[in-house]
Amino acid sequence: MQGRTRVKEALTALSAGADMNVKGWVRTVRVGKEVTFIALNDGSCMGNLQVVAGPDIANYEDVCGLGTGAAVAVRGKLVESPASGQKYELQASEIEVIGLADETYPLQKKRHSFEYLRTIAHLRPRSNTFGAVFRVRSSLSQAVHRFFGERGFLCVHTPIITANDCEGAGEMFRVTTLNMAGPPLLDGEVDYSADFFGQATGLTVSGQLEGELFALAFSDIYTFGPTFRAENSNTPRHAAEFWMIEPEMAFADLMADAALAEEFLRYLCRHVLDQCREDLEFFNQHMDPGLIARIEVVADASFAMMEYGEAVERLQAAPRKFEFPVEWGLDLQTEHERYLTEEVVGGPVFIVNYPKEIKAFYMRQNDDNRTVAAMDLLVPKVGEIIGGSQREERFDLLLERMAEVGIDPQGLRWYIDSRRWGSCPHAGFGLGFERLIMYLTGMENIRDVIPFPRTPRHAEF
Ligand code: 4AD
Ligand code: MG
Repeated sequence: MQGRTRVKEALTALSAGADMNVKGWVRTVRVGKEVTFIALNDGSCMGNLQVVAGPDIANYEDVCGLGTGAAVAVRGKLVESPASGQKYELQASEIEVIGLADETYPLQKKRHSFEYLRTIAHLRPRSNTFGAVFRVRSSLSQAVHRFFGERGFLCVHTPIITANDCEGAGEMFRVTTLNMAGPPLLDGEVDYSADFFGQATGLTVSGQLEGELFALAFSDIYTFGPTFRAENSNTPRHAAEFWMIEPEMAFADLMADAALAEEFLRYLCRHVLDQCREDLEFFNQHMDPGLIARIEVVADASFAMMEYGEAVERLQAAPRKFEFPVEWGLDLQTEHERYLTEEVVGGPVFIVNYPKEIKAFYMRQNDDNRTVAAMDLLVPKVGEIIGGSQREERFDLLLERMAEVGIDPQGLRWYIDSRRWGSCPHAGFGLGFERLIMYLTGMENIRDVIPFPRTPRHAEF
């Protein structure tokens, strides 16, 4: 018998009777009087395949002594299971022990806290919860590409090393090959002209600016890649390395942008409901009892929209106190965002037209001269999940705004050039992939939806 049958295929087989070869890791071993039961998992699904081994197996004693975590290969016949709880089980004829695991294996049967599991991030993918998280993550990643592919968007890989701080928040990680113990100096400052790229560079905070250039050639594009922010905020929603999906559309305004964001999020909701059902049911049962019902509503709902000005008024009129002040001109904090989406609207809401002072230089100025065509999509439990805008396509106004906020046009010559020839209205947004996964699984900490989280003082795995 050749090949390997995945546990998922075995559990969902149309009928019993097939001989198969299954490989995976032992979750539990129950040694009975007559036979021994092994719960076998290979990551292909939440469920374990029950392996039944009798004393006729050559190495029966070794099998009875297997520990949680051991790797084994089982040959056997798929039979109807007489016990309740599973349809089929594998009647073993041969069990090969591939890799032993002794009692020091940390993922023994009992439940572990997420905090503890973070300290063994190299092993946690073998647990039920993280198995589910990373299957959902993988499935969503493929759905993202399918969504844009079906709509004719070009996929562009924007650079990871860059000299531009797109969001202008000063949160770039430096990339350098200079000797940190004694870098070349010029007038008392590090001389980056002697560095690898001949200038100061860092890890990208967003692929947007390069994405815009491609939108002005291919009409509709998206990037989906890692982004990096040296933001020293230790919150459950911020990571120093996270993945972002950034579509950009030419000949589009803010309303077209919001419409795409809504269609996209609803598509992803529908996707997990249809394709990740077993894992969602696990989250619904163990993490967040309202999860499936909430996703079902969002998959069919049309999203609310509110002006920033109205949001501020609603917050000021709120029958409760916030930690951070609320005033026209100040940015919204997570507590404000969650109040708006959870209490005021009770579902996803776009907040649009923010004061220009609290938004990035590239956003299009509105005629009122004090707001820009920005949108943030807020969702219950997470707050901001998407940030986007219509871009300033007018050459003069872009330069004016850059001067106002103190950005040297020299460093962004290539970006400004896009407004010199064939400029047109265009818009886009960024969806934080980890925030999406938090939203769709009910997991409450960003550290638990990314394989190896990078946060302040943590990059050990
Ligand atoms: O709102 P942001 O900063 O927008 C941009 O970067 C734009 N260039 C996007 C665009 O218009 N093309 O980030 C977009 C999203 C946020 O809404 C949030 O979901 C996520 O990225 N995000 C983070 N996720 C995890 N950790 C962080 N530190 C994040 N910062 C932003
Ligand atoms: Mg934002």
